[in-house]
Formats: sequence, structure tokens, C-alpha cells
Amino acid sequence: MNTRTIVRLFGLPVRLVKHQEAHIRALLAGRKLRQLPIHECESLTLVREALIETLDNFFSREERAYLNHIELRRSQLLRSKKWIDDVNYGYAKGRQRRSLDGAIRSTKKVADVCRDSSIPPFWGRMLFKLVRKLKPVSCVELGTCVGLSAAYQASALSLNGKGFLRTLEGSPEIAGIARTTCKSLNLDNVSISEGAFATTLLDVLNRSSPIDLFFNDGDHHHDAVMRIFEDSLSYLAPRGIIVCDDVSWSTEMRRAWIEIEEDHRISATLDLRRFGIALLGTGMKAEAIRLPL
Ligand SMILES: C[S@@+](CC[C@H](N)C(=O)[O-])C[C@H]1O[C@@H](n2cnc3c(N)ncnc32)[C@H](O)[C@@H]1O
Repeated sequence: MNTRTIVRLFGLPVRLVKHQEAHIRALLAGRKLRQLPIHECESLTLVREALIETLDNFFSREERAYLNHIELRRSQLLRSKKWIDDVNYGYAKGRQRRSLDGAIRSTKKVADVCRDSSIPPFWGRMLFKLVRKLKPVSCVELGTCVGLSAAYQASALSLNGKGFLRTLEGSPEIAGIARTTCKSLNLDNVSISEGAFATTLLDVLNRSSPIDLFFNDGDHHHDAVMRIFEDSLSYLAPRGIIVCDDVSWSTEMRRAWIEIEEDHRISATLDLRRFGIALLGTGMKAEAIRLPL
């Protein structure tokens, strides 16, 4: 729902709505989530609970302690003045030159990488809650970056007392920072595979199958998202869940998400504007649920 619709529906001044837009959206989404009919499907019910608790900021003291540590690590990375060599196999703006292996090499500040590419706290908490509720045993993530989204998932796995995350990153120095992130948070339930997805993904899929939770936050090209969707689907658990990040980030990401939503092998989907969540094996072809946060 955009500002104009909110203004029209609630008769509020534009300035107030603009300022409070995220808050109003969250309230509306929370209301809509509570009104959703309770499905027989357990995973959909758990996803719904995870979203409601994230929107209500409902976290136990123990959970908050883990989340605070992650945010401290984020602040440390955002203050870093270190320069690193980035090896980017994914999306690139403009006409940057790729080398023979398909990568674009550049130097970047750690703080900029963290600010531009890491999951924001709200969405990190949602990922954390999804892991807490769904209690996955095997998790895979594409796109580790400096390790923040991995930290949210691995912290939730630690609190669950079970589960392992395998995450993939193409840029070696960035993968090294992610290792430090996990080490500094005492997370020993994560492994980071370094290299282009084209060379690392298959092995990780084989070692992780059946995958309960698959978080795709890597290459933001339509074709890459669809290829990874196709390649990974048969490695997912019968009731596995796919979370795609940035599904509204560009028209091509949007197009990829709509194709996933419409795929006959997916039983239910939730479109949260930033996250697209696709569920397998719910035993129904539910309507695509849209909750634009
Ligand atoms: C958006 S960032 C991931 C952010 C991270 N999930 C977080 O929120 O903390 C995407 C990462 O995927 C990596 N990546 C993109 N395409 C890739 C590819 N084809 N192979 C390997 N790594 C890739 C990039 O190097 C980048 O660090």
C-alpha cells in the first residue's frame, strides 16, 4: 500500500503518513496476518506466527541478547575504515568490466559493503524468528557478504539447540570478514563456501539435502535467481521453505519472484515486498498472500 492509498483510506495528512509510512504498513500487515484463516498446514502457521511476533517486536530476553550482539557487530563493521578487494560475480551497476572468470574486481571499504549489502535489522529479526519457529535442521544461504544474515540464522539455530547453516560467498576477503563475524559471535554452526556459485552450489546442495530453509540473497539477476531456484528445488525437504530477499529491488527481481509464485511446485507464497517466502508441500495451492511491509 503506498502513501496515496493510505491518505485516501484514512484521511490523514500526507506529511504525517509519509513520516509514519513504515509503521502504518506494519500495523496493516499485522492486522491482515491476524485475519488470515488458520490453515491446516503447520509450516504456514509457523511462518504466520514468526511474522506476527516480528511485527510485535516480541522477543525473549535470551533472543534479545543474541540480537544485540549482532547489532554490535554491525556497528563495528560500519565503523571500519579498512579497504578490501571485492570479487563480484553477481549484479553490477553500469558498465563495469568482467574478467574471464565472470567477476568484477574493485576495492571497497568494509563499512560501505556492510551498509550497502547487509540485511537491515528488521528483516534480520524476521529471518531469526522464521528459524526460531520453523526449527530447520539444514539451512542454506546464497550470498554471505560480511555475515550478518548468516549471524541471525545461526544465532536462532543455536537457541534452537539444533541445525546447521551452509552459506556461499564469491568474494574471498568478504568471506573472511564473515568468518570473523561468526567467530566473534561464537557461532560454530556455520560453514562458508568460497567461490562463484557456479562452482560451489552443487556440492553444498548435495551436502545439505534435504534442505529445510533456503535463503537466496546472492545474484540479483532474473536468470540467476531462476537458475538457482531450478537447481535447488529437488534438494529441498518435502516441506522446505525458500526465502528470497529483495524481490522488489528491480523489475527483473520482481519478474523472477512472480514466476516463483506461479510455479506449480510451490504450494503457498507470501510477498512481504522485500522478502518473498515460498512454501513447498503444504498440500494446497493457496492464493499468493501479499503483505507489503
Ligand atoms: C546482497 S549481498 C548478501 C547480503 C547478506 N545476505 C546479508 O544480508 O548479510 C550478496 C552477496 O552475494 C555474493 N554473490 C552474488 N552473486 C554471486 C555469485 N554468482 N557467486 C558467488 N557470490 C555471489 C556477493 O559477493 C555479495 O557479497
